[in-house]
Amino acid sequence: MIKSPRGTRDLLPPDTALWNFVEAAVRDVFRAYNFHEIRTPIFESTELFSRGVGEETDIVTKEMYTWLDHAGVHSDEFLQICELVVNPPPGNPYADVQKRASALLAASRMRGQSLTLRPENTAGVVRAYIEHKLWERGLNKLFYIGPQFRRERPQKGRYRQFYQIGAEIIGPAASGSQSPARDAELLELLATLLERVGIKDWTLELNSVGCPADRVKFNEALRQALAPAVEKMCADCQRRAVTNPLRIFDCKVPEDQPIIATLPTIGQFLDEDCHAHYAEVKNILNAVGVPYVENARLVRGLDYYTRTAFEFTHGALGAQNAILGGGRYDGLAESLGSPQAAPGIGFAIGEDRLVLSLAATADSVARKPDVYVAPLGVGMNREAARVARELRRHDPAADLVVELGDETFRLKKSFEAADKMGARYILIVGENEVAADAFALKHLASGEQVTVARGELARRILRK
Ligand code: HAM
Repeated sequence: MIKSPRGTRDLLPPDTALWNFVEAAVRDVFRAYNFHEIRTPIFESTELFSRGVGEETDIVTKEMYTWLDHAGVHSDEFLQICELVVNPPPGNPYADVQKRASALLAASRMRGQSLTLRPENTAGVVRAYIEHKLWERGLNKLFYIGPQFRRERPQKGRYRQFYQIGAEIIGPAASGSQSPARDAELLELLATLLERVGIKDWTLELNSVGCPADRVKFNEALRQALAPAVEKMCADCQRRAVTNPLRIFDCKVPEDQPIIATLPTIGQFLDEDCHAHYAEVKNILNAVGVPYVENARLVRGLDYYTRTAFEFTHGALGAQNAILGGGRYDGLAESLGSPQAAPGIGFAIGEDRLVLSLAATADSVARKPDVYVAPLGVGMNREAARVARELRRHDPAADLVVELGDETFRLKKSFEAADKMGARYILIVGENEVAADAFALKHLASGEQVTVARGELARRILRK
């Protein structure tokens, strides 16, 4: 049996109803906050992520799906080489084949481009911002919903193909993109969004990771603090201590944690502007009544963050409890080649985790048929199809869900089918009914049966 690859999964009904419910609710919330949808490609050039997300991050060092995209694999030359392998000429065939194959490979490597399945969407949005000169539009408020890919060890709530619902606010500084009001608005939007989909027990963890100048001081302090202990740490941390000490906070090795707990925190190194920005974000959150807890060790796993960094956690999720994360990334656009500054802030919700924490309500969201149309007897498929079409087209606003049976089913089998799918009514379409132009309509839960004229059917079914 061919199974779906490790870390991927099929989303099946009725669960997909919950996914659709979540996506419809978040689209409503985004609309209320004047966000607009952006769709970027599922793969991008590898360089976008190594430069954007950061060379030393777990995502870039271990988790990306990257391949060399060869041009001309089916070139004439390639086919000639295949031909040579299949029908080798007399003499010393392999020398010739090898020579031509290695030349072809070298040329192919030169022409090939390194591509990567997107592990996150912020870098792609910023790339699109630069490519389409979106600064000309002023402040951009963009959202996306779609799959992301990371080669992580799969477990509950952690997949290799997972889905994110994210948003980014980005624009030239003059558009107000740098204002702490945007940070607070985004966090308040998230509180609204989680409430709207029915998630109550969340905790917002908040920190400021400062600006690049603060980080230089912080990294230096980390190097000094690490000097006496670093050789007792894991190989990754020993490397990070040299290349990017901040990433030591990503370490999950239990033996390293006591050392990490003694390290200085970024808050001690914030400059005045970063302090003021952070204080204003908290002031607005207090004013609008969005609760938060400060976590001085929250640095997030991607390199692009500046100033505000946050995560929302949810108790019911166990080990993978971060339901969403985000923060400000004021220098990212310039590092990806933007000719002008484009401060920004955004978040991404793990949709798989959001849906997991709502799983208990799955049944109430799935829509069941209002009516099962049961043809009874030979030739009745045609008549039942007509009735079903009338009901389905009746009034789009009425939104009837109609299921259509088959004339080869005996009445008992039609009842069983209607029952199994949770239909509210069964409608019998037999010869007598067609002749009378009135149909037997039975309410399955109460057993109550009435005869209803064709023109009245939709209205009657709509009555609960
Ligand atoms: P992130 O923290 O890497 O941030 O991912 C955001 C969320 O995606 C996580 O909190 C988690 O819920 C979900 N997630 C991550 N990896 C997996 C996985 N393997 N399986 C299931 N869910 C997962 C970002 O991706 C940033 N781009 C967020 C952002 C937007 N920052 C600024 N703008």
